[in-house]
Amino acid sequence: MVAAVRRAWPGLLVAKLTPNVADITAIGQAAEAAGANVLAAVNTYKGLVLDRQTLKPYLGNVTGGLSGPAIKPLALRAVFELFDKVAVPIIGMGGVSTVGDVLEFMACGAKVVAVGSAGLRDPGLGTRLAAGLDAALDDRGLTLDGLVGSAHITN
Ligand SMILES: Cc1cc2nc3c(=O)[nH]c(=O)nc-3n(C[C@H](O)[C@H](O)[C@H](O)COP(=O)(O)O)c2cc1C
Repeated sequence: MVAAVRRAWPGLLVAKLTPNVADITAIGQAAEAAGANVLAAVNTYKGLVLDRQTLKPYLGNVTGGLSGPAIKPLALRAVFELFDKVAVPIIGMGGVSTVGDVLEFMACGAKVVAVGSAGLRDPGLGTRLAAGLDAALDDRGLTLDGLVGSAHITN
């Protein structure tokens, strides 16, 4: 898929990765090799909700994408593992709603952090997180460059 898009589009190409695979790093490496300039991780996790009355699938499509705080540890793991395996920048997302969440994704290796579900409830959140990030970095005596990937450094 990425190779076909690369042939058709000479500009910046971001490949958004599904986490619903056995090894997201293999897919990320394939997308990078096919010409993606940036990887975005992760999309939603496939889930199932039942109607408590009928005990049948609640969604018309039977399954649906799970997002929000529940997936944050799963998404952090995906970003952490991708960072070790690819050279292109990573956009991290999955359950971000606080500046602390942004710091965690960046420490795992995200160069950019995105807000999905939380932004639906609070459209101004992304702007406030970006503003709060500077103060959080100052508090910790960190720079953006020093933060990105810092969870990989053992000391
Ligand atoms: C209502 C809704 C619609 C979404 N639509 C798309 C989409 O069209 N394309 C896409 O790549 N991701 C889509 N996503 C996934 C989000 O971009 C994001 O990857 C995911 O929800 C995890 O981040 P979050 O926990 O901050 O929401 C959607 C998520 C939600 C909740």
